[in-house]
Amino acid sequence: MQDAGTKLEQGSAQLRCIGCGSVLQSAGRNFRCPECDDLLEVTYPGWKCADTALRPQDLKASWTERRKSSAYVDQSGVWRFRELLPVPSAPASLVSLSEGNTPVYELPNCARSTGVEALFAKHQGMNPTGSFKDTGMTVAATFARLEGFRWVACASTGNTSASMAAYAARGGMRSVVLIPEGQVSWGKLSQALDYGAVTCQLKTDFDGCMRVLNEVVQRMPVCLLNSVNPYRLEGQKTAAIELLEQFNWEAPDHIIVPGGNLGNSSAIGKACMEMKELGLISRLPKISIIQAEGANPLVRAMRENGGKKLSPMRADTMATAIRIGNPASWKKAVRVLEATGGTVEQVSEVEIALAKAEIGADGVGCEPASAVTLAGLKKLVKQGFIKRNESVVLILTGHMLKDPDFTIKFHRGDLFPDKKDDAAILKEQQRAPIVLDASVEAVLKALEQA
Ligand code: F0G
Repeated sequence: MQDAGTKLEQGSAQLRCIGCGSVLQSAGRNFRCPECDDLLEVTYPGWKCADTALRPQDLKASWTERRKSSAYVDQSGVWRFRELLPVPSAPASLVSLSEGNTPVYELPNCARSTGVEALFAKHQGMNPTGSFKDTGMTVAATFARLEGFRWVACASTGNTSASMAAYAARGGMRSVVLIPEGQVSWGKLSQALDYGAVTCQLKTDFDGCMRVLNEVVQRMPVCLLNSVNPYRLEGQKTAAIELLEQFNWEAPDHIIVPGGNLGNSSAIGKACMEMKELGLISRLPKISIIQAEGANPLVRAMRENGGKKLSPMRADTMATAIRIGNPASWKKAVRVLEATGGTVEQVSEVEIALAKAEIGADGVGCEPASAVTLAGLKKLVKQGFIKRNESVVLILTGHMLKDPDFTIKFHRGDLFPDKKDDAAILKEQQRAPIVLDASVEAVLKALEQA
């Protein structure tokens, strides 16, 4: 185990219930408030004290300086921003895989087809296990180990399990994952197996796995590493901090995030609000959340009752990462929508597949769940919610190689066997492999036809 290499200061973090505001000394096994059962969040009362106040210029300078450092703690694009995170008491040994440090790409072709002038992707799929989960997992796994847990656990649509299994292995802990049988892509399942997780495929959906896990953690000393664990969201905040640093602290007009269990949109929103509060940015970007039509509980809640109540649903979408009908962090996500002036939208299966191929054709690529962002953007531009001259950042959450089955079926024309009406529009984006004789002439002919 590597040592952190740098002495970490004791953070001023505390856990607070988002419902009744109770402040807790420590979290229970389910990370819920013992008074009202709502979720917990990490807050930093120390930021407001005169003698510990964080000055934006100092923060920006140390974060830039750390980019040049070869210390283990600074190599992480999460722990580089440790002033805005809960940090373990020194001396600490972090569980890290040098996560974060992800690129921002321009998407010129997607911008043109969508009709916006400035379109960017923050690619969180470029993390060590290929998804944004790693930025949260380094923090949650570090705290799980510090608290002495030998086992960690999660329910997952695939990416959380892959990430958790990797960080558990790095931290010398055992891991158990509950995944819905037949609904997790091979890429993600294979990661959990290789990283050494006890992988249980349950005959249910994600929401069913979550229900079982909530019981398991009450009966066994295992640490719950789903995004109800507030340390996860603190790590996931750094995607937004790093993005704003990459934008030279000028907030884009819009950030668009896929919505599943709604932890990531909550984390990105929390980061933006904290950055504004600390004076790191002068205005908030609008954060909008996009769901698949078949897994749209937040969209329904916002449209039916302004986000006051969420009715769980049976979820179904080929974007399996966001096949979630009862999202845990929905109240946190509603708060982000309200605070930033963002909106919600839903997109169809065909729209998701087309958007994914378009992102691919810009040389970037992503997994299906990430592509809801571009599909949603197209709708928000048509509706006039996003203006053509406004800057937009899509948060791409997973790597293209997470779900190659989806991609191959799409390009071969096998993804939507029954959607005859959409055949022409699908064909425009499909680039099926061509089987040829092994001859120069055959290849030259294929090139001429292309
Ligand atoms: N995109 C990808 C690639 C995901 O894996 C997930 C969630 C999301 C978006 C949605 O993020 O849940 O924070 O709203 N995947 C979880 C998992 C649920 O188990 O891997 P969210």
